[in-house]
Amino acid sequence: MTPEVLAGVESRLRPLLTCLPSTLAVRIYSAGRRRFLDSFARRPPRQSFAPQGLERTLWGLSFRSPICNAAGMFKNGQGYEVVARQGAGAYLAGTTTHQLRRGNRRRGVAQPFAPYPRSGAASNWLGLPNVGHEAVAGRLEGLERHQGCPIGVSAAIAGEDNLEQLVAGLERYQAAAVDFLEINDSCPNTAEDPGGFEQMRGRLSYLAEHFLAHRQRDLPVVVKLSCDTAIADVSQVVTTLVELGFDGVNFGNTSTDYSRHRDRLARSEVGLYDRFTSTFGGGVSGRPLKEDSLRLVEAAAEVLAEQTPDQEFHIVRTGGIEDASDVQRSLDAGASLCQWYSGYFEAFARHGHGLYRELYRGL
Ligand SMILES: Cc1cc2nc3c(=O)[nH]c(=O)nc-3n(C[C@H](O)[C@H](O)[C@H](O)COP(=O)(O)O)c2cc1C
Repeated sequence: MTPEVLAGVESRLRPLLTCLPSTLAVRIYSAGRRRFLDSFARRPPRQSFAPQGLERTLWGLSFRSPICNAAGMFKNGQGYEVVARQGAGAYLAGTTTHQLRRGNRRRGVAQPFAPYPRSGAASNWLGLPNVGHEAVAGRLEGLERHQGCPIGVSAAIAGEDNLEQLVAGLERYQAAAVDFLEINDSCPNTAEDPGGFEQMRGRLSYLAEHFLAHRQRDLPVVVKLSCDTAIADVSQVVTTLVELGFDGVNFGNTSTDYSRHRDRLARSEVGLYDRFTSTFGGGVSGRPLKEDSLRLVEAAAEVLAEQTPDQEFHIVRTGGIEDASDVQRSLDAGASLCQWYSGYFEAFARHGHGLYRELYRGL
């Protein structure tokens, strides 16, 4: 069965499967998701689609549209051909770390995941599984680009990794001719406590001093923060990123504000949600993040309007993007680029490899 057919069939069964006892539903989806993604990334569409009239130049790079996949979809650097042939505006690999990571496991469930189809949402507590910066850089090195579909990588520190190793990873990606980088400073699924603003500023200052200042070519670096970032903190955060010399901010990553999102879920999915969040925790993705990510983009755009950064600084929106109107609202609010994950797979189930073509019709 092709990934397209499988995704279509699964999406019709999903409302039933998620009514199974929670433990069973999480087991089925956690294992099934991994198997599906493996096959999905290995089977590009036969035909290529290249959008017209949506291109933009950001940081001197040509993006043929303002939307690409979010981090976590191609953790090990696979799948460029899939999204490039579908017509994506870019490709993002990772998140990768220095050490190979197998991801989280609890109660016999590896890389726990649960979808909430009626709510357009999901929870995951994967724990950044990936084969490491070095292996992924090797895979991306020398990949032939589709015109207007640059290659980005998301990188982070986790587990025993330190900042020095993250810098070494970023240097390795620089040598591998990657086009842009994203620092994932917002994964809610690793054991480490990221601390507050001062700790974040400390980590980012280190990267600024040891990597940004020594880049050997134009290599934009964006920082991805959580959709839970308080609006009141946006000014301080964006100002800091600009001052440190980063090239953009991405709002954002999954949320751990479980009680707030609970009210945004279909009643029939609250049981599975409660079971998942109380057993694993994890990050909430999809439609519940839509308004939060938009408000963060608006707030960031207001801050930027009052500054004159030396560098070309862009806002990226991730969280709850499902269709053309979401992309348009993002651009109107001041974002230059959008990323999608949950909405992407919903659209894939409906339109198969034609999902970008379909989305661009509304832009
Ligand atoms: C299964 C899964 C794995 C993810 N892995 C990563 C990751 O490795 N790095 C990262 O920065 N974000 C990761 N994310 C978060 C997404 O990139 C995105 O920020 C989030 O899902 C919100 O977008 P969405 O509403 O379009 O899903 C992951 C999300 C999901 C659902």
